[in-house]
Amino acid sequence: MGTGAQVIHDVVGIGFGPSNLSLATALEEHRTNVPARPLTAAFFERQPSFGWHRNMLLPSTTMQVSFLKDLATFRNPSSRFSFVSYLHASGRLADFVNTHTFFPTRQEFHQYLEWVEASFTDRVSYDSEVVGLALPPDAASGLARYLQVEVRDRGGSGTRLVNARNVVVSTGLVPRMPVGVDRDERVWHSSEFLDRFRQVDPHTLKRVAVVGAGQSAAEITRFFHDTLPDAQVFAIVPSYGYSVADSTPFANQVFDPDAVDDYFYGTNRTKDAFWQYHKNTNYSVVDDDVIRDLHRRVYDEDVRGSRRLHFLDLTRVSDVKRAGNETRVVLESLLDTDSQDLDVDVLVCATGYDSMDPSALLGDLDRYCLRDASGRHQVGRDYRLRTAPPLSCGIYLQGGTEHTHGLSSSLLSNIAVRSGEIADSIAQRRAEDEPGTA
Ligand code: FDA
Ligand code: NAP
Repeated sequence: MGTGAQVIHDVVGIGFGPSNLSLATALEEHRTNVPARPLTAAFFERQPSFGWHRNMLLPSTTMQVSFLKDLATFRNPSSRFSFVSYLHASGRLADFVNTHTFFPTRQEFHQYLEWVEASFTDRVSYDSEVVGLALPPDAASGLARYLQVEVRDRGGSGTRLVNARNVVVSTGLVPRMPVGVDRDERVWHSSEFLDRFRQVDPHTLKRVAVVGAGQSAAEITRFFHDTLPDAQVFAIVPSYGYSVADSTPFANQVFDPDAVDDYFYGTNRTKDAFWQYHKNTNYSVVDDDVIRDLHRRVYDEDVRGSRRLHFLDLTRVSDVKRAGNETRVVLESLLDTDSQDLDVDVLVCATGYDSMDPSALLGDLDRYCLRDASGRHQVGRDYRLRTAPPLSCGIYLQGGTEHTHGLSSSLLSNIAVRSGEIADSIAQRRAEDEPGTA
């Protein structure tokens, strides 16, 4: 284990997806505002280069959030890191406006994110995975003013230590498989989809199945149907096909920055109401145009009398048996107690994600992090974990705060504002420690 001895960064960001990229822009704008003593930052990302859910960059897929909810605009409408600035720099502003859309393709949004990232290459390390956090050796004698972040660089030997006054954990969603089902070369999770798909000869795929009734499942089902014209495509759904994602104007208020206060300061009853009435803005739901497109395909195939897109409604996957190249999926009907088998060449589990949990990274430090009555981490309004001595430095979360801050926690909707609030909190706490540095 090497040690990067003396330097102590104001901020170390763990993960460099959109959330911490947005934080980089907020810190940069803070640097412009307080040039005398800018907050210093270093980010560590385990991927070899910037990438935002690359394995789901399927043709024609569009954003599920307005382009105005980019990395910066809601925090600072005149930011040079906005999507509009990107369009202007790319010479496409007029043409984009001519498309009359709020929802660019995911491909274009990815290009926007890469364009912003190009301004921060001096403070991000790729191929660098953070494997743990620890108190410095002298912390036992008093309050710990900084943390040691343990980083493993791909191709390097061992790990190195980086010192941070504040850590911002933003490691993203964690893929979830059906209970008892393991991934292998024929059983994939949607998060690895394109990587896996490129490794197989598409001509060998005669029967493919996609499990789940969310946006990922619908997009992969459509992709299979487009890309494999001779294959039978099965959509295994626990419902009647797909249900629509509610993005109507009143419901969309659940993602407004003000809704974070309503949720955070609300009672348990308030929080229950958010989930009861608005879960269908995000989970297990699909954009209207994709639903109608897929339904149309099924109907057209029926009219032609040659069905190859099959919806197995009210059905869950309960097991997968592998024997050589055979993949036998055990289907459980929700109509009765029957189960039946389906043999496929590939099964894609678009079965969702668990939210970010910092416990593994915290390791031993977790015992200084306070928990609520349900055993969940206590988090302040400024997204900082509530901690007990000797841990006094800041550990902030971008993600994993649905229980405290509500539905937008794992989404892009509020990242511009959230990053600004985290940057403000870090600057404010430094000013209290070192007057004159706000
Ligand atoms: P994200 O997962 O993007 O980034 C986390 C990063 O941390 C990754 O790059 C990962 O490699 C890295 N990392 C993890 N552990 C690490 C470690 N120990 N050390 C170093 N690096 C580590 N939301 C929305 O509002 N609108 C939308 O249109 C979409 N679209 C969408 C499409 C798809 C296919 C999915 C799966 C999800 C969405 N989402 C979404 C939700 C999604 O959570 C959101 O778009 C962002 O990815 C959240 O950004 P983060 O930076 O928080 O996580
Ligand atoms: P999701 O919305 O959580 O959907 C997972 C689905 O899998 C649910 O319908 C779930 O049903 C089902 N499922 C789980 N286990 C099952 C089993 N054993 N058998 C049958 N079905 C099972 O996950 P997602 O579709 O990956 O979406 C996650 C996030 O990514 C969302 O925020 C979404 O908006 C976003 N996303 C965005 C885009 C885009 O921007 N274009 C694309 C893809 C995803 P139960 O809930 O009943 O278990």
